[in-house]
Amino acid sequence: MKIMEIEGGRDLSGTIRISGAKNATVALIPAAILTDEEATICNIPEITDTEALCDILKALKVDVKRASESIVINPKNMVNTEIEEKFSKKLRASYYFMGALLGKYKKAEMYFPGGCSIGARPIDLHLKGFEALGAKVTCAENNKYIVEAEELKGANIYLDIASVGATINIMLAAVRAKGKTVIDNAAKEPEIVNVATFLNNMGAKITGAGTSTIKIQGVDHLGKCFHEVIPDRIEAGTYIIIGALCGTPLKVDNIIPEHVDALLSKLEEAGVDLEIGTDYVLVQKQDKYKATSIKTAVYPGFATDLQQPFTVLQTQMTGKSKTTETIWENRFMHIPYLKELGANIEIKNQTATIIGPTKLKGCEVVATDLRAGAAMVAAALTAEGKTTITNVEHILRGYESIVEKLTSVGAKIKIKEV
Ligand code: EPZ
Repeated sequence: MKIMEIEGGRDLSGTIRISGAKNATVALIPAAILTDEEATICNIPEITDTEALCDILKALKVDVKRASESIVINPKNMVNTEIEEKFSKKLRASYYFMGALLGKYKKAEMYFPGGCSIGARPIDLHLKGFEALGAKVTCAENNKYIVEAEELKGANIYLDIASVGATINIMLAAVRAKGKTVIDNAAKEPEIVNVATFLNNMGAKITGAGTSTIKIQGVDHLGKCFHEVIPDRIEAGTYIIIGALCGTPLKVDNIIPEHVDALLSKLEEAGVDLEIGTDYVLVQKQDKYKATSIKTAVYPGFATDLQQPFTVLQTQMTGKSKTTETIWENRFMHIPYLKELGANIEIKNQTATIIGPTKLKGCEVVATDLRAGAAMVAAALTAEGKTTITNVEHILRGYESIVEKLTSVGAKIKIKEV
């Protein structure tokens, strides 16, 4: 088991360079099998979710070459076999193989995906989309799904919820379908635009990604392409929040600031000192912040994935701040640990009320999921004394070189094997 130890209360100054986006990468890697030639993707983050997807590629006999931040994927020897339960369960994004295999081979066999326990996380919208394209979905024992079609035909699909995963998965299945597919009430997250650009670079015909209507004209062939992963807006947002807590100042570099607009507005409302550049944000901590409330929403609203780290900053604001979570039913699992660190928080239904400022004091806490883990890191850096975080594996799924990045700006942080 790995544990993380942080000696908090230190000023952090210098530059943190943001890696490629996890939530784009985890869709781009499965999407790459749709090519008939070879796909090269650069700016791939070194995180355990990337490794887990490469293990699936290897199990499907796809040629995978890794070189520092890039990956070359060639599916010429690929065999479309069942994706074993142990692989499906490793991460949520394994489900993108459903859309990609269905799109390419008209058949996919895999198990219900794993991932953070932040809610029920159904996949009904993905499956309804596949069915609309002409596929038959069978759910066998142990939540094994078989999705197959004689032919995939373009269709008009309206998503009841603007789901990121369903939007991408339907896009993957539809790129090689006959005719035109229209996805209405599509999600608009930047990762969706990045995946659509990747597919278009291969020769797909997708328009409207980044708006609520995406149109896909099916094609017969997808060719060779080179693609770059966008910077990770959630990693960027996490370090910007850490900067507001400990930065003297902290520069968060290699980002697309518009992707974190909602966060930046809220930080400005709280009185955080920000310099917003073309590809960076410089953040200087202040002695006093104004109570500021947030409500999570689909993009371009306040990202649910930044809600947990933001609550740490709320503990340092003067007065009563509220956080309302609207996307996931179970995304306040970090709150009991924030309270152990000294925060004054009450949860009622989907809203947490935080009264601050409170002094945080190091103790033993748990990273209950990926972003809860990021919140624990932010809190531990702010707290006086030593904090020990267990379940660190969650954090390593999404934050590349977190120890090295934070150490380089003055943090005292290490991961120990126990
Ligand atoms: C993606 O999850 C991200 N994961 C999540 O990030 C992120 O929190 C979420 O989008 C929202 O931004 C990846 O990209 C791998 P959704 P996804 O489908 O696609 C409901 C992180 O920390 N829904 O947009 O699974 C669902 O229950 C992770 O990096 C259905 O009801 O999210 C949720 O309430 C955690 N039926 C809402 O829609 C479906 O078929 C939004 O989910 C699909 C979703």
